[in-house]
Amino acid sequence: MFDIQEIRSQFSILNQEVNGKPLVYLDNAATSQKPDSVLQVWTKYYTELNANVHRGIHTLSQLATEEMELSRRKIQKFINAKHDFEVIFTKGTTEGINLISYILTSELKKDDEIIISHLEHHSNIVPWQLLCERTGAKLKVIPMDENGVLQLDFLDQFLSEKTKVVSVNQVSNALGVVNPVDEIIARTRANSDAYIVIDGAQSAPHFQIDVQALDCDFFVFSGHKMYAPMGTGILYGKQNILEKLPPFHGGGEMIATCSFDGTTYAGLPFKYEAGTPNVGGNIALGAAVDFIEKVGHQNIQNHENALLDYAQRKLLEIEGLKVYGEKATRTGVVSFNLDGIGISSDVGMILDKMGVAVRTGHHCTQPIMSFLNIAGTVRASFAVYNTFSEIDLLVEGVKKAKKMLA
Ligand code: ALA
Repeated sequence: MFDIQEIRSQFSILNQEVNGKPLVYLDNAATSQKPDSVLQVWTKYYTELNANVHRGIHTLSQLATEEMELSRRKIQKFINAKHDFEVIFTKGTTEGINLISYILTSELKKDDEIIISHLEHHSNIVPWQLLCERTGAKLKVIPMDENGVLQLDFLDQFLSEKTKVVSVNQVSNALGVVNPVDEIIARTRANSDAYIVIDGAQSAPHFQIDVQALDCDFFVFSGHKMYAPMGTGILYGKQNILEKLPPFHGGGEMIATCSFDGTTYAGLPFKYEAGTPNVGGNIALGAAVDFIEKVGHQNIQNHENALLDYAQRKLLEIEGLKVYGEKATRTGVVSFNLDGIGISSDVGMILDKMGVAVRTGHHCTQPIMSFLNIAGTVRASFAVYNTFSEIDLLVEGVKKAKKMLA
């Protein structure tokens, strides 16, 4: 049974006042709060187990290694990867995409093409621009319409033997639009040999992910948006591809042998995990997976979709309020502006005074804002612990902001 009060009781941080008002935390697309179970696992690591992994003969090192590898297997199951060694610990989505774009350098040459979409976060734009600079490849961008829906006819036009990479997000962080990644992957596979990269930063917290069913080559996401500590993330890559491509960072852990005459590399996943990892964070990421699975993917999705529908309906009752991507299939996010109030941060500051935390501005998606001809939006984003009465407080705050700023 889905018991929202029981879920909320697992997040001590929610039980506080901000600016004299009960905290209403609606900035989950930026980072989610962490349940006490995750914090306890993290604390336990530092109070009882702290040691470096994969290096020590001593007991603590072995225990820490076992816990981190257990977490890797939980994440393997969470995304349905075929092998645990296809799951690479990173510090987040941004590092994952930079890693992929770097190791693909030798796979591209001048005039090859990389396809992304207009709905991407800067972290799924800039690494590809850097790859274009290194190789002379060109970036092609699938356009969006005014509802934030991708125009897939352009993908069909763009795909050719020159296409080497297609990289899109599954859910837009700025608008919450759910992209048809199944369709994008199917069309890409039918018309090219491109590597397919899916940015799951905003989908992994909300949906069940199945990388084998998706048949993507890479899937990246962050831990901190799905109830795990900051500085955690995952890069999934298919075995044959990760084995073929070169390493990213060089250093300890990623070598098989090292001498001044040359180095041979460790097998997966260690080839891509140079240096001391975020052991406590990676173990706690496994606890976040336990939390999500205990609540249940379907319960999370149903609750968050109901919150989104309710928020959108109530917000649209405010005259002059525009929701971006209103007609698109969305999850977890409602992004809006008030007519005549050009500075979204003014609304955000008034909401903050009422204890309501939202993000304002361009959300690291300046191309989307340019397309919509706005400087930014007010973005409320939901997690499993949010309630309908919190949405009422958001709506009340927006009405107050409208009065004050009109
Ligand atoms: N990418 C995060 C966001 O959308 C930080 O807020």
